[in-house]
Amino acid sequence: MCGIVGYTGSDIAKNILVTGLKRMEYRGYDSSGVALEVGEGAAAHLDVIRRVGKVAGLESELSNIDSDATCGIGHTRWATHGKPSVVNAHPHTSCDGRIAIVHNGIIENFAELREELEGRGHHFKSETDTEVFAHLIEEAYAEAHDLMASVREACTHVVGAYGLAAVCADEPGVIAVARKDSPIVVGAGETGAYVASDVIALIDATRDVVVLEDGQFAKLTPAGVEYTDEAGNVIEPKVTHIDWDLDMAEKGGYPDFMLKEIHEQPRVVRDTLVGRMTPAGELDIDELGLSLEELNDIDRVYVIACGTSYHAGLIAKNLIEGWARIPTEVEAASEFRYRNPIITPTTLVVAVSQSGETADTLAAIRDARIKGAKVFGITNVVGSPVARESDGVIYTKANKEIAVASTKSFIGQVVSLTLLALLLAQVKYRLTTKQARMLFRELSDTAEQIQWILDTQTEAVHEAALLCKDAQSALFVGRGMGAAISYEGALKLKEVSYLHAEAYAAGEMKHGPIALIDPGFPVIAVATKSATYDKTVSNLMECKARGAKVIVVATEGDEEINKIADCIIRVPAVRDVFSPITASVPLQLLAREVAILRGCDVDQPRNLAKSVTVE
Ligand code: F6R
Repeated sequence: MCGIVGYTGSDIAKNILVTGLKRMEYRGYDSSGVALEVGEGAAAHLDVIRRVGKVAGLESELSNIDSDATCGIGHTRWATHGKPSVVNAHPHTSCDGRIAIVHNGIIENFAELREELEGRGHHFKSETDTEVFAHLIEEAYAEAHDLMASVREACTHVVGAYGLAAVCADEPGVIAVARKDSPIVVGAGETGAYVASDVIALIDATRDVVVLEDGQFAKLTPAGVEYTDEAGNVIEPKVTHIDWDLDMAEKGGYPDFMLKEIHEQPRVVRDTLVGRMTPAGELDIDELGLSLEELNDIDRVYVIACGTSYHAGLIAKNLIEGWARIPTEVEAASEFRYRNPIITPTTLVVAVSQSGETADTLAAIRDARIKGAKVFGITNVVGSPVARESDGVIYTKANKEIAVASTKSFIGQVVSLTLLALLLAQVKYRLTTKQARMLFRELSDTAEQIQWILDTQTEAVHEAALLCKDAQSALFVGRGMGAAISYEGALKLKEVSYLHAEAYAAGEMKHGPIALIDPGFPVIAVATKSATYDKTVSNLMECKARGAKVIVVATEGDEEINKIADCIIRVPAVRDVFSPITASVPLQLLAREVAILRGCDVDQPRNLAKSVTVE
């Protein structure tokens, strides 16, 4: 949601903090700020600088400040409690301004805590839940005179999730860090110690990092890091080596991350599939976690996820039901957890989450486990909460996704869910090894098919975007897999271009939505060759007759579609079950192109954040 960074050592802190914040800006970007330790002895104090808007604003402010501070913390925010404003931006400070904190997560009991603290004379400056932490630490510090101990004490009062870093003017060079349900990584480099909510912020300094576990604390000083548990006992942390490159997180010559990530999709398909099928035709899954007998017993599947990941779930339903013949429901995690779904020990809950830290998805996993379900995670982040809390995992191998709108991770999810469906079908003896091998081969071929689309369809996408760019609204339609792809296409378009878009199963058009159509209204159809192709074409004719501009994602070689389409984006012929992997790509490109034509920031759309760690 938000991004945290901290540094203490011998280098100038402000530069390190700004670089880290810029790398994490995709996590939230409505305001940002830093707290720097300045002065010595009695003159020691904290300089807190905060700005509304993107990190570039903070950067230019800091470039005018001559600071040689070597310890500080920083934050980039996505507003939850309190509007984006300077007072609500982090760092937040104690009453006397000698303690400053940055926080990710949510403090559920903040209203009670605030009332109690105000009752004891604390004066609050912001509307945020976070600020209570600054005051709780201040109270504890008055007794303990020890920042780390005070942070630990403050955490005992807080209900909720936190990744927290605190500094105190009276303890120069010390950063106290705590974690519960919100990611924190810590590392020591040549010149000092670093903390961040995302490894991308400290990868320049070190590749050996500690991903703090819930209930663990870290005290950073220029000399190194000490890790402790809730009771203050020193612990030996688990060190993780990061083997991906910073290059992977930079634009690599593309104008924006979204386009770069769309172009990475052939690689994502290959990487997600590499080594997955043994020569004997058996599927090899990262962490199966369940025995083949347990899998064979599965008689009901729920796919739970949010947003784009939910759309990957819609595709999975078709695959699991079609191949494995197991009844499958797909639900938004935010709905699932507030219902009373039918769960038995033979229910499999498949949780799909790029970030692996989406609050609703995590809460749904926890609920499902309590009710006795087996849980399988599909995630892009190794060691993420979704991975840790699932019985089995498939990693999507998309690598770091920076653009807020998911593209390559969606393709990775669909490929991974396809593997899971194949596995379930094999375990249930619904597919022979020979059939599974053939399907696996065709699935692998989609890497080249995506490449073909990327190489040949740019012009067609641009033409389609011109038909959409001035519209007030657009409709996406399709049937079967085409409907699932349409839901994702509409989400992508609205989130990056702010053009209102809806998706409908094409057969539903005549039951209401067709009333929207007037001359020039863009209808974007996924009408690849499938059993329902003719029916979709009829629905498009109905739209065309009412003046719609019809843009069609159609199979290469389909000439019939030329008669009704105003614009055609071609995709190679594939088996219908694999069409989401190819036909989603033109819709991602279209969304981006429309957004560019409308002057939008495609990597960081307004009001959004990359990982949604609030419910
Ligand atoms: C849209 C998008 C979001 C996410 C959703 C779930 O492009 O990226 O809709 O799919 O917030 O996030 P994860 O997959 O991290 O759980």
